[in-house]
Amino acid sequence: MSNNNYPLPFLFLLITLSCSFHFSTAKSSTYNVIKFGAKPDGITDSTKAFLNAWTKACSSPYPAAIYVPQGKFLLGTVTFSGNCANKAISITIDGTLIASSNYRVAGKGGTWLRFQHVDGVSIRGGVLDGQGTALWKCKNSNKKNCPTGATTLEFIGSKNIMITGLTSINSQMFHVVFNGCQYVKTQDVNIVAAGNSPNTDGIHVQMSSHVTIIHSKIRTGDDCISIGPGTNSLWIENIECGPGHGISIGSLGWELNEAGVQNVTVKRVTFTGTQNGVRIKSWGRASNGFVRNIFFQDATMVNVQNPIVIDQNYCPNNKNCPGQASGIKISDVTYEDIHGTSATEVAVKFDCSSKYPCNGIKLKDVKLTYKNQIAEASCNHAAGAALGLVQPHSCL
Ligand SMILES: *[C@@H]1O[C@H](CO)[C@@H](O)[C@H](O)[C@H]1NC(C)=O
Repeated sequence: MSNNNYPLPFLFLLITLSCSFHFSTAKSSTYNVIKFGAKPDGITDSTKAFLNAWTKACSSPYPAAIYVPQGKFLLGTVTFSGNCANKAISITIDGTLIASSNYRVAGKGGTWLRFQHVDGVSIRGGVLDGQGTALWKCKNSNKKNCPTGATTLEFIGSKNIMITGLTSINSQMFHVVFNGCQYVKTQDVNIVAAGNSPNTDGIHVQMSSHVTIIHSKIRTGDDCISIGPGTNSLWIENIECGPGHGISIGSLGWELNEAGVQNVTVKRVTFTGTQNGVRIKSWGRASNGFVRNIFFQDATMVNVQNPIVIDQNYCPNNKNCPGQASGIKISDVTYEDIHGTSATEVAVKFDCSSKYPCNGIKLKDVKLTYKNQIAEASCNHAAGAALGLVQPHSCL
């Protein structure tokens, strides 16, 4: 009734506006890779189709969505480049992306799926299958001509990234890498590779700040999470780690000029059958890097070989560090509420640089046993304090 009172041009405007809005959301904002020629058969190379869908989403002035339906999509190495016209691209994956079973395709030391200079990208769901088993076999048989292998998923120079519900299996090398990124949130991620697969780190962070990794399961042949130079304000919480090499800051100090690592929190992590629990590791070489303000809180160790370890004398085969002490300065590292079982007698090991001893190491409420006995601690060039119940007896 009251409509009759509106002037006709106004009604027209309303209808036109609502229609165009309706069409623009329906038409231009969701890009299904199938429409771009992707084939869910696991054999047809769908790289071009994915790239074309990305180009559309990236050039959209509005928030855009890419949809990958169920099925297996074969992808070669691909870079999704940024400087997009919008800052909200969501990629929803119901299917599986698989790398070539010929590891020489992606394996020349690169990355399989790379996002570069993107801002506001989210990935939801999906399985990434790096098909790394043949390459691991090559490497484990000590053949000389095996390629390095590819990282499965890498974000470079990007910000405002969100990854949820993603599964990454059988990566050739590292599964997920954040390099030069800010404001990243990763949650409910599931990472799996064989316990004897070489260099299959779960998540690697370097030159990045404000990265959060929560509520995830990581089982690999190398570090569950590795933290490289230039990492600042990293938050890790609620992780199940193992098999693997644990959570490691380092290896650091390979370079003489190297950005430091600071403000890292690792909280509520269960390590099961891992080589290390919480580790800080640096090469025994000159470097001006540092590690400071690190908090390891509420960790459960289940049969872990080195539950708490600082190793500043890393130098495999005694090559490339002739008699040199590490230059990495380690300070203010807190271990609080760390409990469980060690698979070796020495459960706490601080082997610091003779040139720059560790200082401000705090142990608070630590209880680690070895074969139902209190385990042992060993200190070299380490200073700090023990608070509350600390077993093994502190050697600080
Ligand atoms: C330390 O990192 C947390 C996130 O992990 C951040 O919220 C906090 O502001 C950072 N603190 C400093 C002093 O940078």
